[in-house]
Amino acid sequence: MNPMDSEEPILRTLDSSGISKVQEMTIPGQESSEVSKTLQDAFSIFDNRLRHDHPACFAYMPSYPSPLAWIGDLLTSVFNVNAAMWNNSSGPSVVENTLLRWLADQAGLPQSAGGCFVSGGSMANMSAIVMARDNALPQRRRSDGVAYLSDQTHISVAKGLHMAGFCDYQIRTIPTDNDFRFNVELLNQAILEDKANGFLPFLIVGSCGTTNTGSIDPLHDLADLAEKHSMWLHVDGAYGASISLSETNKYLADGLGRADTVSWDAHKWLFQTIGSGILLAKHGWKLEKSFSIEADYIKTTRAPDGSTSFYNVSPELSRPSRAMSLWFTLKVLGHQRVGKMIDQGVTLASVAEQELIDLGDWEIVAPPTLSVVVFRYSPFNLSIDDKELDSINLAISKRLIAENVAAIFTTKLRGRTVLRLCVINPLVQQENIKQILQRMNQTAQKELGLHPSLKEAPITPISFCSDSLPHVQPMVQQE
Ligand SMILES: Cc1ncc(COP(=O)(O)O)c(C=O)c1O
Repeated sequence: MNPMDSEEPILRTLDSSGISKVQEMTIPGQESSEVSKTLQDAFSIFDNRLRHDHPACFAYMPSYPSPLAWIGDLLTSVFNVNAAMWNNSSGPSVVENTLLRWLADQAGLPQSAGGCFVSGGSMANMSAIVMARDNALPQRRRSDGVAYLSDQTHISVAKGLHMAGFCDYQIRTIPTDNDFRFNVELLNQAILEDKANGFLPFLIVGSCGTTNTGSIDPLHDLADLAEKHSMWLHVDGAYGASISLSETNKYLADGLGRADTVSWDAHKWLFQTIGSGILLAKHGWKLEKSFSIEADYIKTTRAPDGSTSFYNVSPELSRPSRAMSLWFTLKVLGHQRVGKMIDQGVTLASVAEQELIDLGDWEIVAPPTLSVVVFRYSPFNLSIDDKELDSINLAISKRLIAENVAAIFTTKLRGRTVLRLCVINPLVQQENIKQILQRMNQTAQKELGLHPSLKEAPITPISFCSDSLPHVQPMVQQE
């Protein structure tokens, strides 16, 4: 069973009888079960999934882990270190601290920066909100604090605000501009208005790579505004902060290093398995203000270099040594290669945009900034109302997945149903993208009933590059 085999279904979901079968497999029997038989069960259970690593999966932020990350994960599990306390995990803790410092350098954060690995972007965002609350809002005035998001901010931020004790009346959602970036003018007005009404604006959450369109907020402008109003600036770079590793494109994230905190998911665009999130803080010691706590049964010993145990700078106590997989991957590949793998996504998104333009009938709703392009089938010479186009675009997405052509899911932008393609997998070649979009064009025409004969048209199989060391081959060809 090769997870990179493009013949595999991109998405398989259990039906009712499948659910019953898996339930039967789940309940442990009185008697023991053969390891080999149980492994077979595990494979058939995992068969029912979205294959994020399928080269035709462009949905969400597809997690495409390098096989090197698998090795890193295996090491993490085998050694099973509890990276909570310094003296119990000194080796992996030094790796974690050193890697965090290195990542902070890439993002442009100052020497004072620190951080921790967490399970993902949602936990990183929530932890950053807790830090903003503790550093930028007087304890007795928490109920007056106001946080500012844009209409493109990821849902995990509002969720994190609620978990950190904030109510809906304390959250402002500011409209974005035509490029889906924070409208700084409107943000400033909202802050001034809230101040005039006795509120305490304390947090601006910018995005470096929004989920819908990959847009990057004007980070310098947000930092200026945060400084002007003495507010905390958190930048959600769960997806887009990885661009900092690209020599060619890192300028896109200029200003990221001015944030007080940054979220960064290695399981998105740093080719790690799910569960690898990062929180960076401009001033590492401020993490302790929010997360440090003592107990009689845990004695904090500081490392000779002064660093503390990770349970004092992160929300968790018991925690795996999550940094090891990313370290292993970066070490083996070298960071230049990883930067080029990231660049490949940026290039492919532009190739996709050009192909859509060449095909005609496709409106580019959000041109790529990073590796996302958003578009909509909208034949120019036909007058079809927006509602009908919404259903046609949804139908296209469903048909592509039903026919196992590609996972290109819909989202909504300014109330319209649009198609969204995010390309992260470095196995994907320019030719693959073009072929898939051509197939999508045929699907769209079928949906519109323009060319019923296309239903019988032969389908050319799309052949993807596959290799036991995925991503190495395409990169070599490019160099
Ligand atoms: C911009 C952004 N922030 C945060 C998150 C949440 O990250 P996670 O799913 O790792 O919790 C996502 C997830 O896609 C995201 O795209």
